[in-house]
Amino acid sequence: MRVAPFIATPMEFRTVWWEDETVRLIDQRKLPHTVEVVNCTDLSSVAYAIRSMQVRGAPAIGCTAAYGMALVARQSAAHSVEDLLEELRQAKAILDAQRPTAVNLAWATSRMLRRAETAASEGTTAIKTVLLAEAEAIFAEDLAMCHAIGEHGAPLIPPRGHVLTHCNAGGLATAGYGTALAPIRTAFAQGRPIHVFVDETRPFLQGARLTAWELLQAGIPQTLITDNMAAFMMQRGHIDCIIVGADRIAANGDVANKIGTYGLAVLARYHQIPFYVAAPYSTIDLATASGADIPIEERDPAEVTHIAGIAIAPHGVPAAHPAFDVTPNELVTAIITERGVLHPPFTVALRQLASQP
Ligand code: MRU
Repeated sequence: MRVAPFIATPMEFRTVWWEDETVRLIDQRKLPHTVEVVNCTDLSSVAYAIRSMQVRGAPAIGCTAAYGMALVARQSAAHSVEDLLEELRQAKAILDAQRPTAVNLAWATSRMLRRAETAASEGTTAIKTVLLAEAEAIFAEDLAMCHAIGEHGAPLIPPRGHVLTHCNAGGLATAGYGTALAPIRTAFAQGRPIHVFVDETRPFLQGARLTAWELLQAGIPQTLITDNMAAFMMQRGHIDCIIVGADRIAANGDVANKIGTYGLAVLARYHQIPFYVAAPYSTIDLATASGADIPIEERDPAEVTHIAGIAIAPHGVPAAHPAFDVTPNELVTAIITERGVLHPPFTVALRQLASQP
């Protein structure tokens, strides 16, 4: 077992990194009890890591896929640029198919392919070099964007600082620092009072296993709740605002995020609690008109009927497992991006954001 490297402080561990011609990542299925590193040495192990959720979270799977594309290029025996580009196109198709909802995945592989195409005149060796640099750039940019989201989002947290979050949109779900957890981390670093209510997030338990682990590492006060306690906590006045991440934001501001997010947004509106979505530009998909057009991943129902391999339902019971839901834009108070906070109408705000240089 290897312990993952930390960037600067224990708060900023690396989710995924390149080392010895290998894509390495923290196995998020093993957390919180074991910090184990997975070595991906070929395309199929990178694809498996994404599909099986050894690595998960929209920006993190984008970064992983980018390193995966670099790996494919560097392992390629192609003699011509055209053959190498064809291998990369096939790798992109394989990687993109692993998880359909988070747009960051296809965004990252598209960017990698474009970079390879622009280096085509320089030959295969140059493509191998520039693709690794591009993957490192995607990683570094994601980390910087998360910190900027933290700066923009922290002032939105009300003075008492009681924040509810769902799933894990923290460092583990990104290059580091997180999206939804970024304003929380920043406010905490500024010495402000913060208390995070962590939704357990059935069925994969990203909240209980991953967010709770991250907040513990960072020393940020928290209370873990099961998903069905959120309404009660809001009714009793324990929650000042909700901050969640996103897997894809459509052109009209509809937000796909972890299953259960929509329910929280409805509850937030009823209880008049601000509902914020934190996401970098790689999550915004202007080519998708509305949430109705976002593909929702259906995962194995065994992830619902079993927890950590133990059956919690009668053998053979039919179960559903949509992994994400869509929150209509009218329930979103604001979208926190690395370039600032967007307010409704989101169609206009998102288009303006995209047109910024
Ligand atoms: O199925 P997961 O764990 O990949 O889902 C993750 C989420 O829904 C996150 O909230 C989202 O990807 C944003 S992560 C910064």
